[in-house]
Amino acid sequence: MVTYLSRFTITIIGLLVIIQSTPSTSSPNNSVQLLLLSTTHIHIHSVIDFGAKGDGIHYDTAAIQSAIDACPPGNKPCEVRFPPGEYLTATIRLKSHVTLNIHEDATLLGGPRIEDYPEESSRWYVVLAENATDVGITGGGVVDGQAMKFVVTKNEIKNVMVSWNHTGACSGDECRPRLVGFLGCRNVNVWNVRLREPAYWCLHIVRCDNTFIRDMSIYGDFNTPNNDGIDIEDSNNTVITRVQIDTGDDAICPKTYTGPLYNLTATDSWIRTKSSAIKLGSASWFDFKALVFDNITIVESHRGLGFQIRDGGNVSDVTFSNINISTRYYDPSWWGRAEPIYVTTCPRDTKTKEGTISNLLFVNITAKSENGVFLSGSKHGLLKNLSFINMNVTYKRWTNYMGGLVDYRPGCQGLVNHSSAGIIMEHIEGLEVKNVNMKWHGDQSSSWSNPLDFRPWTVNDISLLNFHSDFDNSDGNVAS
Ligand SMILES: *[C@@H]1O[C@H](CO)[C@@H](O)[C@H](O)[C@H]1NC(C)=O
Ligand SMILES: *[C@@H]1O[C@H](CO)[C@@H](O)[C@H](O)[C@H]1NC(C)=O
Ligand SMILES: *[C@@H]1O[C@H](CO)[C@@H](O)[C@H](O)[C@H]1NC(C)=O
Ligand SMILES: *[C@@H]1O[C@H](CO)[C@@H](O)[C@H](O)[C@H]1NC(C)=O
Ligand SMILES: *[C@@H]1O[C@H](CO)[C@@H](O)[C@H](O)[C@H]1NC(C)=O
Ligand SMILES: *[C@@H]1O[C@H](CO)[C@@H](O)[C@H](O)[C@H]1NC(C)=O
Ligand SMILES: *[C@@H]1O[C@H](CO)[C@@H](O)[C@H](O)[C@H]1NC(C)=O
Ligand SMILES: *[C@@H]1O[C@H](CO)[C@@H](O)[C@H](O)[C@H]1NC(C)=O
Ligand SMILES: *[C@@H]1O[C@H](CO)[C@@H](O)[C@H](O)[C@H]1NC(C)=O
Ligand SMILES: *[C@@H]1O[C@H](CO)[C@@H](O)[C@H](O)[C@H]1NC(C)=O
Ligand SMILES: *[C@@H]1O[C@H](CO)[C@@H](O)[C@H](O)[C@H]1NC(C)=O
Ligand SMILES: *[C@@H]1O[C@H](CO)[C@@H](O)[C@H](O)[C@H]1NC(C)=O
Repeated sequence: MVTYLSRFTITIIGLLVIIQSTPSTSSPNNSVQLLLLSTTHIHIHSVIDFGAKGDGIHYDTAAIQSAIDACPPGNKPCEVRFPPGEYLTATIRLKSHVTLNIHEDATLLGGPRIEDYPEESSRWYVVLAENATDVGITGGGVVDGQAMKFVVTKNEIKNVMVSWNHTGACSGDECRPRLVGFLGCRNVNVWNVRLREPAYWCLHIVRCDNTFIRDMSIYGDFNTPNNDGIDIEDSNNTVITRVQIDTGDDAICPKTYTGPLYNLTATDSWIRTKSSAIKLGSASWFDFKALVFDNITIVESHRGLGFQIRDGGNVSDVTFSNINISTRYYDPSWWGRAEPIYVTTCPRDTKTKEGTISNLLFVNITAKSENGVFLSGSKHGLLKNLSFINMNVTYKRWTNYMGGLVDYRPGCQGLVNHSSAGIIMEHIEGLEVKNVNMKWHGDQSSSWSNPLDFRPWTVNDISLLNFHSDFDNSDGNVAS
């Protein structure tokens, strides 16, 4: 890139050249520009040069791993390129300063056999980076987990999947490989890439610091369980922007297992899921703090914004702004009951502690939903200082699934019969509702009960300002 400027000074710092125009009325542009010169030494390895066939039939694992391992030690950036083709592979391991560059006509296919993955199930990923710095994936291409090869029985409600639980490496019915994992990494970049058909969770960020995920898409089969979009665990300083996620299970899912999670921002994104679009939990052993979700469109999902806090971690300072939500019922074997917003802290079982949730702000929210908002703290896990400002909710039924169930899963009281209300509130200390419009559609058979449903002895300090509730019997099709 050549930029012409009438007057400029050049400073060389390493291999970066900073061109700064001096303030001058004759200069049209006084911005500071950073240019990465083409002479910068990025090592480039093509997996073809290391013997990859790219025919989608032979395993290219050894060739790909050699291309990565041949990257020089030290701080030099290294790009491992995949030219057009299909690269069948067992687990490949990224290392520091390596970026996978997958051509837009190239696909990495994850192996479908248990022997394609390491012994420890905690390392079952198609692409795995562990304790690495400056790592990433880009190039416009695809990483595909071949989930369909893990389906035992296809089912419109929920596919039945294999579970690799017979070796002892993993127990239960969720023993399948994830797609891409960054564990204990710093400076992670995932951009311009398509992640597709994970057999289990898709993009897993664990104990990382400084992660940037942008301009990418995730596609998982709508009927496949556990194909979460992005799971961010025990990690700080994560930015997600301009992502499109269409999948069966939770789309953006912060969790805490071994440490807290601070500073997560997700913006400018689009989500469809048969579970929660955004969900904190259910693993919630440590705190979550300073999360921002802005300008997000959620369509036809089973739940919009969700908190399943179950293990004693405390959540604070979370903002949701400029969010459009449409939620509908699916089969109740999937968690979610069409709630646009769901905030809960009931303890998972009798042994777990109750965590609190405080300082939540919901601003500029539009929802079209088959069910109401559910806000349910617990005796020692209160919901404190919640604000709903500028919110329009349209309530209308458009599927034939049974309503009238409150969903406390996982654990807690499970599914409980309770008539559908606009906002159900339990165990709350401080709730502000300002400029909120509820619009109701349907007839008596829709079985809506109250706009606001709460028992005064568990809910304190509710303030309503400019709150409207209107019944509309016209037949507007809100489902579209
Ligand atoms: C100034 O330069 C930046 C970076 O190249 C560019 O995005 C911007 O449009 C320029 N502004 C004007 C006024 O030319
Ligand atoms: C990464 O670091 C963790 C924690 O220090 C350690 O347990 C693990 O073995 C390391 N993994 C690798 C591949 O070095
Ligand atoms: C193994 O996985 C199958 C299939 O999901 C499941 O039905 C079974 O209960 C699991 N067995 C064990 C011991 O976890
Ligand atoms: C995140 O920040 C918290 C608070 O400073 C710290 O305890 C934790 O270790 C950090 N986690 C990571 C993965 O850096
Ligand atoms: C979270 O972000 C704030 C503001 O950018 C920063 O000061 C703080 O150190 C970050 N916390 C962690 C744990 O990195
Ligand atoms: C909101 O996000 C969409 C992408 O989903 C983007 O096109 C749009 O520009 C964003 N709006 C604002 C105000 O940033
Ligand atoms: C939400 O819908 C409104 C009205 O249809 C629109 O103006 C706004 O841009 C939408 N915002 C998002 C985040 O989709
Ligand atoms: C959550 O807050 C409570 C009350 O302040 C505290 O006792 C508990 O230890 C906190 N939980 C965690 C995981 O830090
Ligand atoms: C209540 O939450 C808002 C954010 O929604 C925050 O700005 C305010 O400081 C909180 N109030 C208290 C007393 O913590
Ligand atoms: C809610 O509806 C009112 C009246 O139609 C409109 O003025 C306002 O902008 C809407 N707010 C949101 C957040 O959609
Ligand atoms: C809410 O929407 C209004 C009107 O569109 C806008 O002026 C305001 O900045 C928005 N608030 C936030 C926090 O985004
Ligand atoms: C909920 O109601 C249905 C019928 O409406 C009934 O069959 C079911 O047993 C009830 N469940 C509980 C937990 O009460």
